[in-house]
Amino acid sequence: MSGSPETRYTETPVLSLHHWTPKLLSFRVERPRAFRFTPGQFARLGLDSADGAPVWRAYSMVSAVWDEHLEFLSILVPGGKFTSQLAQIQPDARIRIEKTATGFFTTDRFVDGTDLWLLATGTGLAPYLSILQDPAVWQRFERIVLVHCVQVWDELAYRSEIATLAQHPLWAEHAHKLRYQPVTTRDDHADALHARIPELLRTCALERALGVPLSPETSRLMICGNPTMVQDTHRQLMQMGYRLSRLSAPGQLVVENAW
Ligand SMILES: NC(=O)c1ccc[n+]([C@@H]2O[C@H](COP(=O)([O-])OP(=O)(O)OC[C@H]3O[C@@H](n4cnc5c(N)ncnc54)[C@H](OP(=O)(O)O)[C@@H]3O)[C@@H](O)[C@H]2O)c1
Repeated sequence: MSGSPETRYTETPVLSLHHWTPKLLSFRVERPRAFRFTPGQFARLGLDSADGAPVWRAYSMVSAVWDEHLEFLSILVPGGKFTSQLAQIQPDARIRIEKTATGFFTTDRFVDGTDLWLLATGTGLAPYLSILQDPAVWQRFERIVLVHCVQVWDELAYRSEIATLAQHPLWAEHAHKLRYQPVTTRDDHADALHARIPELLRTCALERALGVPLSPETSRLMICGNPTMVQDTHRQLMQMGYRLSRLSAPGQLVVENAW
């Protein structure tokens, strides 16, 4: 991006924080008035690290495009340069945000298909919460499947928000389209599946649990989260006949590689 650092970012106040677990935090900042984004995109946020040097990290927007705030979801890494500062932040503190949102992890990368599959591990859930607040997505797809894989049940952030999200008046008539599938890999909660996403795809366990068949003709899949999960899921889906969607050759997969 061109321009001096001062012209690239603005400072905005932190409005609120919410801890899901001691290591998992959502936070809201005031949306700078000129800040625009497409659901699925991310912003770079800046804080001063412990030694005073600025440190920047990318975070996907969780919020809807019309919200007056911007919401983000973060893990807190002990000793992490950025997140150890984030862990101490209080409402009214100011955080830097680049003026322009970035990224191509957006549903307009798909030109066809009837079923949208949103596959996430951990905080990779974030962009899907914004995508699920886009009325066009609810209108366009016949079924929307959200799969969130975490280690243990308590890490399933936004569980109750996801349940109520579908009832929003702007798309409530499409609420029946959403299927939410929690997955935990290190506990055995009765309401979750218990294997990593590539394995659940390989064994068709996801399709069975959700009652939604996967096929390259109808299914369009987005993958976001742990980089090795993104790679392994991509590889598994390639073996099943799915291809990355490119401008020159629309396909069935869109992958978030920015992390
Ligand atoms: N905050 C944001 O806005 C945002 C946006 C986009 C992406 N991200 C990225 O999303 C990631 C989220 O964290 P995380 O997913 O690493 O959390 P995590 O807590 O380390 O792992 C969550 C789940 O991913 C599974 N997993 C790990 N490696 C896997 C693999 N190779 N294949 C399939 N599943 C695998 C784990 O299974 P096991 O228990 O079996 O290990 C666990 O169930 C981070 O890398 C973050 O940078 C964040």
